[in-house]
Amino acid sequence: HTGWKPEKPGEKVYLRRHTGNFHEVSLVRPEDVEPGGFETVFPFRESERNDEHALVAALKRADAPVMLIRMRPNQAITKRAGQEDFNYGDLYAYSKICTHLGCPTSLFEQQTGLLLCPCHQSQFDVFEYAKPRFGPATRPLPQLPITVDEEGYLVARSDFIEAVGPAFWERKS
Ligand code: FES
Repeated sequence: HTGWKPEKPGEKVYLRRHTGNFHEVSLVRPEDVEPGGFETVFPFRESERNDEHALVAALKRADAPVMLIRMRPNQAITKRAGQEDFNYGDLYAYSKICTHLGCPTSLFEQQTGLLLCPCHQSQFDVFEYAKPRFGPATRPLPQLPITVDEEGYLVARSDFIEAVGPAFWERKS
């Protein structure tokens, strides 16, 4: 389960960078990410913003790392058939937690759109809804629906569209 779901309706879920200082809250605006660029961000609830312990805990949640990717103008992401849009313009957010056994994926190749997991070499095609292309993972990386708030900061619109990390039946096998 994700630990950062809004506790009350309308509570904001911000995305922050980890700057190395656990207590510094560095929020992200769409223009902060270069076209073709990406960064790792961490969701946290508005109610956690002024609580030092909660902010530190938010960075350490196992399901927290999110890859924020900005496509180049001539690139398009293929979404799943029948799926609504979860992106904000050319920005897309996916869980970084591999759906095989839960390692953090680590390397994004901008040219091919492949996101690599170092543990057992699964590759996810970010340009095609982060579906697995190679290796033992069988499920796409869950997407996080995003938008911007009235101050222009990126926020999550809801929880991930699917469970983060390995599926239950995969964990047991
Ligand atoms: Fe990522 Fe196994 S945990 S490939």
